[in-house]
Amino acid sequence: MCGIVGYIGKRDVAPLLLEGLQRLEYRGYDSAGIVITSPKAAGLRMVKAKGRVRDLEARVPKRFAGTTGIAHTRWATHGAPSDDNSHPHLDTEGKVAVVHNGIIDNADDLRAKLTADGVVFASETDTETVVHLIARAQAETLEEKVREALRHVEGTYGLAVMHADFPDRIVVARNGSPVVLGIGEKEMFVASDVAALVSHTRQIVTLDDGEMATLKADDFRTYTTEGSTTSATPTTVEWEAESYDMGGHDTYMHKEISEQADAVDRVLRGRIDDRFSTVHLGGLNLDAREARGVRRIKILGCGTSYHAGLIGAGLIESLARIPADAEPASEFRYRNPVVDPDTLYIAVSQSGETYDVLAAVQELKRKGARVLGVVNVVGSAIAREADGGVYVHAGPEVCVVSTKCFTNTVVAFALLALHLGRIRDLSVSDGKRIIEGLRKLPEQIAEILRTEDRIKEVAEAYAGAQSMMFIGRVRGYPVALEASLKLKEISYIHAEAYPASELKHGPLALIEPALPTVAIVPDDDLLEKNRAALEEIKARSGRILAVAHREQEKADHTLVVPKNEPELDPILMGIPLQLLAYHTALAMGRDIDKPRNLAKSVTVE
Ligand code: F6R
Repeated sequence: MCGIVGYIGKRDVAPLLLEGLQRLEYRGYDSAGIVITSPKAAGLRMVKAKGRVRDLEARVPKRFAGTTGIAHTRWATHGAPSDDNSHPHLDTEGKVAVVHNGIIDNADDLRAKLTADGVVFASETDTETVVHLIARAQAETLEEKVREALRHVEGTYGLAVMHADFPDRIVVARNGSPVVLGIGEKEMFVASDVAALVSHTRQIVTLDDGEMATLKADDFRTYTTEGSTTSATPTTVEWEAESYDMGGHDTYMHKEISEQADAVDRVLRGRIDDRFSTVHLGGLNLDAREARGVRRIKILGCGTSYHAGLIGAGLIESLARIPADAEPASEFRYRNPVVDPDTLYIAVSQSGETYDVLAAVQELKRKGARVLGVVNVVGSAIAREADGGVYVHAGPEVCVVSTKCFTNTVVAFALLALHLGRIRDLSVSDGKRIIEGLRKLPEQIAEILRTEDRIKEVAEAYAGAQSMMFIGRVRGYPVALEASLKLKEISYIHAEAYPASELKHGPLALIEPALPTVAIVPDDDLLEKNRAALEEIKARSGRILAVAHREQEKADHTLVVPKNEPELDPILMGIPLQLLAYHTALAMGRDIDKPRNLAKSVTVE
């Protein structure tokens, strides 16, 4: 999704902003642009290019000096990717420059009114309406001009504004799209994502919705869109700049898959209490009495996080015996759900900024519900909006498709389920059993990762398929869903996931030699039932790849994973399937870190 980066200080701004844009490339984009000025310069200088940041860089003239600037990577919403539609956008006189993430809902109305007033538009974007509104605002200061313009705007925005008449400042505003300030020594930064800031400063201020800020080289201040001052104490980002580098891997996806043993170790660290066979979750904000009063749990998330939520719901039901289910947040908020005071709602999000999840949380809070977050990015919008929660501590996830965050999110759910179970009726011995299982996970993950060569071989055997079926039963079904999503996202092979139990109710009709099936076959109480499904597929000459705890004779190939406790097996069974998707996509020559049409962190509807 679109990215913003801005700087004001004493350094040469263009290289700094281009580097920042490169750090945001992982979010997905189709064009980029930069505008700069300096206290001595007469006016703004802008360069834009459809394509990659390197295309923009190639267009930047040799002499392009300045000390203040804003830059953007655009992911087209209004108007096709083109030089003209790229941000920044300028007003007719070339004095006001705006970069914008989000969507202006009433852009058509605004455009019609501005056009009737004689404004000639240079692009098809919704953003350009904001530029002209700022340029036409009667107010004296840049802050007031922006505020005056925003009064006419409906929709979501994270925006940064420069004005040739006010070269000593950048004004930014947030409503529904992230804006983070980076506080330096006599220099200030702004970005839509800390990834663009951490190589320069780890002191950050995250704006809330309805908040604005003015950045000057040696000072910043935050205030509401109504103008009242807000307090903003910088916090320190824990993630190191190096965590955003590829670290010797060919892709971020491979790096992040490989980091999972350490990531799981991190989510467990300091949380296990052996004395009472439970875990401590510091930020939960749910005392034992409140936890005992919970009658139902509803988990909301999108995509991979929703799948992690499905496994989480299973863990909560089996360990805490609280009825639990998961639903896509994007569906939930549109069906006017009954909000029940005895239900605990849990929002799951890697980025903590996914608009559909955030909007669901806001809707729930408006209706008086208690909402917890299971989130990776500390201080993100969902983390701040929630009443409490569990951080998943996966470290930054740069690849568009989620791997280590998925795994850590499921482990975080296991911790939550254990915690809830132990204050309800999970026995000490079951608590101990789960803790032992959790402790084994990092080494078992490392063991699976060591079988990568074999997984690669198997992936290459299936890479030519037009379509693939994924099946799993009960705990295995969300694993199948997630594995099929991973495969389709990066290889573009069509993939379907079905509960193994539903096979004979319809999808069996599809089975033939050209449609391989990936079957999740754990060695648990459902093993015989799963084997029966393999028989059914084999009887129709279907090819089978099993993920199992031992070789499956009905399968053409088996990826064997180590056995843990049955409740925790889904965590391990997902990992070879991430590598399967990876090596299938690699064999097909796909651009793995930048899958087509997809963006990291979907902050628009
Ligand atoms: C898929 C993937 C997406 C995200 C989804 C929600 O690999 O990463 O499906 O899980 O867009 O994003 P978050 O978790 O940031 O809310």
